Amino acid sequence: MSARIFTAAASLLPLLAPTAASSYDLVKEYSGDSFFDGWSFYGNFDNLTNGDATFLSSDENKDAQLAYVDSSTSHAIIKVDNTTNVPFNEKRNTIRIASEDRYDIGSVFVADMYHVPYGCSVWPAWWSQAPDWPTGGEIDTFEGVNMVTMNQMALHTEEGCTQNSPSQSSTLVNSTDCNYQANENEGCVVTDPETQSYGEAFAKAGGGVWVTEFAETGISIWFYQRSDVPDAISSNSSSIDTSSLGTPVANWPTGGCDIDTYFEAQSLIFDITLCGDFAGADNVFAETCTGYCYEDYVVGDGSAYNNAYFDIASVRVYGASGTNVVVGGDSAAAPNAEWGLGSLLTAAGLLLGVAL
Ligand SMILES: *[C@@H]1O[C@H](CO)[C@@H](O)[C@H](O)[C@H]1NC(C)=O
Ligand SMILES: *[C@@H]1O[C@H](CO)[C@@H](O)[C@H](O)[C@H]1NC(C)=O
Ligand SMILES: *[C@@H]1O[C@H](CO)[C@@H](O)[C@H](O)[C@H]1NC(C)=O
Ligand SMILES: *[C@@H]1O[C@H](CO)[C@@H](O)[C@H](O)[C@H]1NC(C)=O
Repeated sequence: MSARIFTAAASLLPLLAPTAASSYDLVKEYSGDSFFDGWSFYGNFDNLTNGDATFLSSDENKDAQLAYVDSSTSHAIIKVDNTTNVPFNEKRNTIRIASEDRYDIGSVFVADMYHVPYGCSVWPAWWSQAPDWPTGGEIDTFEGVNMVTMNQMALHTEEGCTQNSPSQSSTLVNSTDCNYQANENEGCVVTDPETQSYGEAFAKAGGGVWVTEFAETGISIWFYQRSDVPDAISSNSSSIDTSSLGTPVANWPTGGCDIDTYFEAQSLIFDITLCGDFAGADNVFAETCTGYCYEDYVVGDGSAYNNAYFDIASVRVYGASGTNVVVGGDSAAAPNAEWGLGSLLTAAGLLLGVAL
């Protein structure tokens, strides 16, 4: 009797549950001399998160070279200007780039890095969002501020998406409501307990790899410090099977957050801003740094920024086998939405814009 019921239930399950693709094929690689092809440079001061930073345009970067490929390693460098003496009342130059192509549900993003930006006043992120944010959601794979020692990961969505019954290794859950209107848009945040996931310890361990699975069944993030990177990733294979990766460090299953409802194709983003709504919030800044965020760090000779850079070996995007996940480049669409977010934050006067 119970065996019959079990059999019946088991055979129904595939029809009811969202399909769990775990095999993905390479659709795009950003690496080497062509790393910066296919990204748009923001080209405006940080009017999104109130940072004391100017994000260079592609033309401005041609002279300033804050984003470039290091000829000795073939890695992409994205950095804060650490050579200009910035006078009081001016902003410091840095970079924000967004991929022109967007990647739909059924994608995996793999970012292999050797160094991430850190230091007092520094607020870097490797993340993604849909053009009509908060519609279409946001996935923050890597983010930190100032001298924190652990990476924080988050989703930001419209109302109705929560982290419920995750299958994840981290027990450091900061918040479970992903709604951008809840908790000053903190998002549903999970902190990586490994100190090699951020800052100096990340660099000393030789960096590492983040894998972000954006699937109908849920969103999952794995982090591997260099010595733990599995062969499936280090071999630069043209396909990846996420079922071989073990338990993710963070997971938001579709049960608490219907991925099809809250998420749309994502534009990939690297940015580094300074101070602003999160790093510069007095209470946040004082947790790991002393003095004043703008006056004591941004202003002056830039020596505070010698560690404020990404060193990226590659970003690879995979799509569920047999599907097309690439939504073709529309560089006009993405920035509008990002500005929308900025005005929203400014209007609300929010202090804790985690992960924008
Ligand atoms: C999240 O929780 C961890 C562990 O308690 C803590 O170290 C971290 O500061 C928290 N992050 C935020 C953004 O509050
Ligand atoms: C990884 O493999 C792809 C083709 O599958 C190739 O284009 C790329 O150059 C390789 N990248 C590295 C870093 O070896
Ligand atoms: C700026 O930082 C880089 C590392 O990103 C370092 O190699 C360089 O020496 C620094 N420049 C100055 C003037 O300190
Ligand atoms: C940010 O700057 C861009 C470019 O000048 C502008 O189009 C956009 O409206 C601004 N956004 C906000 C929120 O001010």
